[in-house]
Amino acid sequence: MTALAALPSWQALSAHYARIKDAHLRSLFADDPGRAERFSAEGAGLFLDYSKNRLTDETLRLLLALAAERGVAERRDAMFAGETINTTERRAVLHVALRAPRGTRIEVDGTDVVPEVHKVLDAMADFANRLRSGASTGHTGKRIRNVINIGIGGSFLGPEMAYRALRPFSDRSMTFRFVANVDGADLTEATQDLDAAETLFIVASKTFTTLETMTNAAAAREWLVRKLGTDAAVAKHFAAVSTNIGSATEFGITPANIFGFWDWVGGRYSMDSAIGLSTMIAVGPDHFRAMLGGFHAMDEHFRRAPAASNLPMLLGLLTIWYDNFFGAQTIGIMPYAAHLARFPAYLQQLQMESNGKHVGFDGGVVDYQTGPIIWGEPGTDGQHSFYQLLHQGTKLVPCDMIGFCQPLSPLTDQHDLLMANLFAQAEALGFGKTAEELKAEGSPDFQTPFRVTEGNRPTNMILADRLDPASLGSLVALYEHSVFTQGAIWAIDSFDQWGVELGKVLASHIIPELDRDVQPTLSHDSSTNALINRYRRMRR
Ligand code: F6P
Repeated sequence: MTALAALPSWQALSAHYARIKDAHLRSLFADDPGRAERFSAEGAGLFLDYSKNRLTDETLRLLLALAAERGVAERRDAMFAGETINTTERRAVLHVALRAPRGTRIEVDGTDVVPEVHKVLDAMADFANRLRSGASTGHTGKRIRNVINIGIGGSFLGPEMAYRALRPFSDRSMTFRFVANVDGADLTEATQDLDAAETLFIVASKTFTTLETMTNAAAAREWLVRKLGTDAAVAKHFAAVSTNIGSATEFGITPANIFGFWDWVGGRYSMDSAIGLSTMIAVGPDHFRAMLGGFHAMDEHFRRAPAASNLPMLLGLLTIWYDNFFGAQTIGIMPYAAHLARFPAYLQQLQMESNGKHVGFDGGVVDYQTGPIIWGEPGTDGQHSFYQLLHQGTKLVPCDMIGFCQPLSPLTDQHDLLMANLFAQAEALGFGKTAEELKAEGSPDFQTPFRVTEGNRPTNMILADRLDPASLGSLVALYEHSVFTQGAIWAIDSFDQWGVELGKVLASHIIPELDRDVQPTLSHDSSTNALINRYRRMRR
């Protein structure tokens, strides 16, 4: 594959960047009345205004040329066709099959996987309906009112984010909790006020080997058996979601309560697989299917919309523009919706685990920046915390601002306040305030330099009608495919995660060294040795 910097479009972008890097959004807008209309696009229920970015028509033309030269569309088509595009793990990448309507045909190694997907969805729906209606009960005959999802990474962030996002659509008579951390405090807090007879644990783990999840699952089983007085209770109080059906069965989970998925679904791309069982129990199968509909609508948009109006491609290319040309290190995700409080954390894994890579398809170390650091908080909370740095700091932090036109809360007047803040922040970030403007407003001279806000801080504005299952699905798929677009340009495998393995291995070496009954001979570096010794001395 041609080196990125050698591509004509890359070179043209570099030269173009040198010419326009100082162009200010103030003049870009003043000189171009049609800018907002031209630099916006719509698809799958989402509207994207990307006009407040530091770009011109030429930038867009060159970014699209880069996508074409790098074969983004071809790679996308290969993904949808079930080809083995996750080359380091020799797997297809088919989260898009999870939301393919019944009757669609998507093959992996000659087998259509869509019927299998719907078989699992139907089994999940049956399980969820029986639980929600009270038709299936716990061991003592009491109704299940509490659901605790035990899982980490993609087996946690998606379910937790989706539950919070869709709470207005959820069964309010049920309690949902999410336990991830191997710190026993997480499980203890989640269980301590619950009646075991009314509690279902879902052990969510693609591999069913993850230390944190297996440890918490074992502790949860102990808690349940202690509270209900018999091992027999496990059958009615545990479900599992995994590709490793054998280990889930060995754990003691009733086969009817085990929901499978497939190795062509990456953990961080799995919230719409059986990993979403807690979501389905919370909001019901119809809403879950509406969410899948939203995902699928964005899949179709990504697949069919021309690149120039293709939301995920545009979002991905803008990330490249800031990351590789402006040298931006991070991207802020600011959902103006309290229900999306965990969306930035969800996107953190989706983007950083996918594109935090320094080795390209060819096995060589890349000589350009890859995935940005993703972070964020819901607006308006962030405004009273870190926005100061966004407005007047020395770093360029492009932000995605996300809003919904219709409120879900009955406090509708507050929604206008929320949206006014959303629009105002993007305006302030983009256009700032000059010394002249401040003076004209009567700012005292001694204060004026400190009050100047430069502006020229780029934002994407993403709007949907309301936050509901379908728009949530579209929004997540938008980012999945943006990540895909970035990975294709950078020529990295966005679907493996080898980097997290070393820490896991080292932890497995240290675990026995912390055993109270042994006096280990430590052979780490002097810092790690000293820390282990200190911990051994100080713990109780
Ligand atoms: O350690 C990273 C990771 O493998 C993630 O990719 C994954 O989402 C998480 O751990 C949990 O894995 P599992 O679902 O197999 O327990």
